[in-house]
This record gives sequence, structure tokens and C-alpha cells, in this order.
Amino acid sequence: MDYKVKDVELAGKGMYLMRWAEDHMPVLITIRSRFTKEKPLKGVQIVACLHVTKETGILIRTLMAGGAKVALAASNPLSTQDEVAAALAEEGANVYAWKGQTKSEYYDCIKMALKHGPSITMDDGADVVSELHSGKGDVSKVLGGTEETTTGVVRLKAMAERGVLKYPIIAVNNAETKWDFDNVYGTGQSTLDGIMRATNILLAGKEFVVAGYGHCGRGLANRARGMGAHVIVTEVDPMKALKAVMDGFEVMPMLKAAEVGDIFVTATGNKSVIRGDHYKRMKNGAILANTGHFNVEVDIKDLESMSKGKIKIRDSVDEYTLKDGRKAYLLADGRLVNLAAAEGHPSEVMDMSFANQALAAEYIQKFGRELEPKVYDVPKEIDTAIAQLKLETMGIRIDSMTKEQEKYVRGWSEGTE
Ligand code: ADE
Repeated sequence: MDYKVKDVELAGKGMYLMRWAEDHMPVLITIRSRFTKEKPLKGVQIVACLHVTKETGILIRTLMAGGAKVALAASNPLSTQDEVAAALAEEGANVYAWKGQTKSEYYDCIKMALKHGPSITMDDGADVVSELHSGKGDVSKVLGGTEETTTGVVRLKAMAERGVLKYPIIAVNNAETKWDFDNVYGTGQSTLDGIMRATNILLAGKEFVVAGYGHCGRGLANRARGMGAHVIVTEVDPMKALKAVMDGFEVMPMLKAAEVGDIFVTATGNKSVIRGDHYKRMKNGAILANTGHFNVEVDIKDLESMSKGKIKIRDSVDEYTLKDGRKAYLLADGRLVNLAAAEGHPSEVMDMSFANQALAAEYIQKFGRELEPKVYDVPKEIDTAIAQLKLETMGIRIDSMTKEQEKYVRGWSEGTE
């Protein structure tokens, strides 16, 4: 077997981690049981670039149970759980991932995975599609791909609009059972988890600045408020800013927030959201973290150029001393703090996200040849079936419409009585 992991001896621990995840991912396990019988992915080579976590481990097992071969690279240099990477390699996946990769190791691993010749790609951030489209692999046999995250969907839509995308992509991120849960509750909880594991600071009473009020920012702002922080939101989109205001958060430009914030977290999908002008105004001891996909949201170059020294004061925390003596603390090198300093989203929400991934792969295998090279939503029937299954596994029953109600909601002739 071909793989490259930190230490294959860690496999035993990885198996236990996955056992824990599996017990909290009943939807994916239901899908896996069907896949084991029906083998819908027989003959499929998947090349995946995902955070190598215990939850991803359960997805990979599900895809392999469905008959697929899987090559897996990490979708972030710091997010791999080495135990899980080892366990998956032992179970027969071609894994190329370890925690703490350099940038060149990161891209080398994607190239190694691509050597397996994908028929389906699975991305979290669109780096596989981007590498394939820059000539780093054979695109000719690819039926389609899936994309896990907002940033990746934005990149892929830009490729489709420019006419350069060569195969169809299912935007798993945009399924309701993904972004209304994973992005909101997953990011909300796991980001606080990362900040707390890294710093162990008290959140109650702190000025907590959230940059970006998309699904992720909204989840984070609510959870930070729940922990007793006073939350300030910054935005560039009037609609999102208005939602934040009506949800009861204080909204102001980052230049102003910079003066009052104790903790700053970016969740925007954009670059240099916190930069030199902001560092100039920050209080001594400000904590900076990012929970967006790429490590460009906190401008590290500006921070370095304004600093006279930097030390790693504890795991995942770098203390920068600015030239005027103030300190600023950067968490997890500005990479996704929830995955780099904690374990990512809890299994219960990844259950639905990865159910979408598994069913989207099956859909591509069946219908990929009929699709144009565009970005598609997850079919509504799949999304609804996942919600239904999740409720069933939680033991929750809901009403169904009467015949009369079904007729009423489809009709137009009945109005004011
Ligand atoms: N993205 C966020 N959390 C994750 C997790 N636990 N596993 C895989 N991808 C993730």
C-alpha cells in the first residue's frame, strides 16, 4: 500500500477515535450499511482533499464500503489528526497527510493523491480542482467532484463563470443539511473550543469581535454571546450587517472594533481583514484567530513587519511584541483555529455534512456524465432525505400534511375567507 503518514503505529489510537465518532454519526452509518450491500461506487477512484479527522475517517470508510478506492490528502497543513491518518492507511486508503506540513509538502501530498487518477474528486477549499486544472494530474477520467466549504464553492463558481471548469461539481456546502448546521453550530462550537484549548482564557466579560456574519460568523457570534462575551460584528455586506444588528449584536467598522476588542476572530473568506491599520489601534494583549478556510484573513506579514519579536508562548499561541511594546497573540498561525487547535466540528454535525458527500458521490457516479461543467446544488431529495434520517436517528417524529393541506399549498384559487 502506498501512503505517507506521520507514524503508522498510531493506528490503534486512530481506530478508537473513529469508534467514538462512529457512535455519533448514525446517518452516515445508515448510508454505509446500504453501500456495503449495493456497492454503488464499485470501480470509482476518489481523490479527496479533506481535513483528516475522525469524522472524515467515517466518510472514507463509507466510500470504501461502497466499493470506491480512496486517495486522501489533507486540506490544511495543520488539521490532520495523525492517529486517524495512520488508521485509514492501515485500512487500505492511500493517505498522504500529517499535522504540521510545510506549504510544499502540502501540495506534494495533493500531487501524490492525484497520481491515483481520479474519477471523482472531493474537495474542501478547491485545491484539488485547482491543481488538476493547472495540469498537475489527469482530468480526462473525472466524472465530477464535490466541494465541502463556502470558500471552495466561491472559487469553483469563479472558474465556471470564466468557462475554465472542466467537470461538474456538487456544492455540498450549499445543502441545507450542511450549511444550516455544520457552518452555524459546528463552527460556533469548534471555534470557541479551539480558542479555549489554545489559551484557556475566560470568555465571559470579554469584547469578542467577529469579522463576517455569514453562516459561520453567525454561529460563532451566538455561541460567544452564550459564553458571556460582549460580541461586536464587522461586515462589508449591508444585508448581513443588518441581520447582525437585528440579532442584537453591535456592528461597527473594524477600525473602531480594533480599539476595543480583546479577542478577534475572522470568518469572512476574504484576505487581510485584520491588517496593519488595525494592529496600530489594538489594546495590549489582543488575541487574533481565524476560522475561515485560508490563512490569509489575519494579515501575518503586516503583523511580522510591525513586530520586533515573536515567541511561541504555548502550543498554538505565538506572542508578537510590537515595536511600541504592545503584545498581540496569534493563534494557530492564523490557520483554521477550530481544526488546528481543537478537533474541528463535532461528529453530530459532520454526520450530515458527510452524508451529503457520500450521497453526492453516488449521484455523480450515476449522473455525472449527463451534467455540464458547472456548480450544482445537492439535489433537494437528497437534502430532505438526510434531514428526515437525522430526525429519525434522534427519535424525533414530525407531522405530515393532510390531503386537503397538500392541495391547498399547491393551489392558488383559495385566498381570504
Ligand atoms: N471541517 C470542520 N470540522 C471538521 C471535521 N471535524 N472533520 C472534517 N472536516 C471538518
